[in-house]
Amino acid sequence: MTRVTVVGAGFVGMTCAQRLAEQELAEEIVLIDVLEGRPQGLALDLNQAAAVEGYQARVVGTNDPKATYGSDLFIMTAGLPRKPGMDRSDLVEVNGKIVNAVASYIQEGSPEARVIVVSNPLDTMVYLMAERLGFPKNRVVGMAGVLDSSRMAFFIAEKLGGGIADARCMVLGGHGDSMVPMPQFSTQNGVNIPALLPEEDVHAINHRTQHGGAEIVNLLKTGSAFYAPSSAAVAMAKAILRNEHRLMPAAAYLDGQYGLSGLYMGVPVVLGAQGVERVVELEIDEEGRKKLNASALAIQADIETLKEKGLL
Ligand code: 2OP
Repeated sequence: MTRVTVVGAGFVGMTCAQRLAEQELAEEIVLIDVLEGRPQGLALDLNQAAAVEGYQARVVGTNDPKATYGSDLFIMTAGLPRKPGMDRSDLVEVNGKIVNAVASYIQEGSPEARVIVVSNPLDTMVYLMAERLGFPKNRVVGMAGVLDSSRMAFFIAEKLGGGIADARCMVLGGHGDSMVPMPQFSTQNGVNIPALLPEEDVHAINHRTQHGGAEIVNLLKTGSAFYAPSSAAVAMAKAILRNEHRLMPAAAYLDGQYGLSGLYMGVPVVLGAQGVERVVELEIDEEGRKKLNASALAIQADIETLKEKGLL
């Protein structure tokens, strides 16, 4: 039996559970949260949708870490979201404590699991999770590039007047303001974006992509995006569970690639049953390299904060 645990029954977590069930990606989906009643209520609601939707998957809502034992895959969404005006880095301390608590029961009960981290600040939380678990680094990966690339794809398709199905984008670097949209590696069915749009449009799309999360936080006023983040996390889960060997941008552990070591950051990876099968190194120009290095510095600053707070 395939068991996937979603940690955190907030909007991202509950939408992940729904997408996993509707796509029949696991026989059992465990939704765990510290709030009593919420995961149980959401699980019951999702199970009551099964007859209409026609899925066989069963959802278990729980507050007990033991119910997650033996999971094949975790999607870690627990943590506070940003409020308007906050930076993702403002969440390092509070979400770092939650990651530490969750890592201890993953390690205890699911030593073979693969783990997708979604909690923010993403690149720092996935690093912390991997350090705490002590699993091989390829089994721990962060979700951000798929989301940021999907946002960019929407903006490009909108500018071109449609054609979202043909849009394939690549956003690298950290999942923060220093993320690096890569129009030269983004295409509309194989045709590079700079050949389709004037430079000023490409700049405007890059900028909107970089601030795509904040745009939604400011509109919602309480909470942050969840439909696109859960789509992205579940697409990665599917690539792992079905061993699809998909090339996706994701936060992976860097050990010399792109001239960087000892941190997680968004790069193109091949995702399959073992998690990150390989990091793909692109030929990036001087300007792109500088931006990736700046992104890495921002991530390293958050890792230092974790150390100062005694969370790492
Ligand atoms: C976002 O970009 C929540 O970080 C997430 O919407």
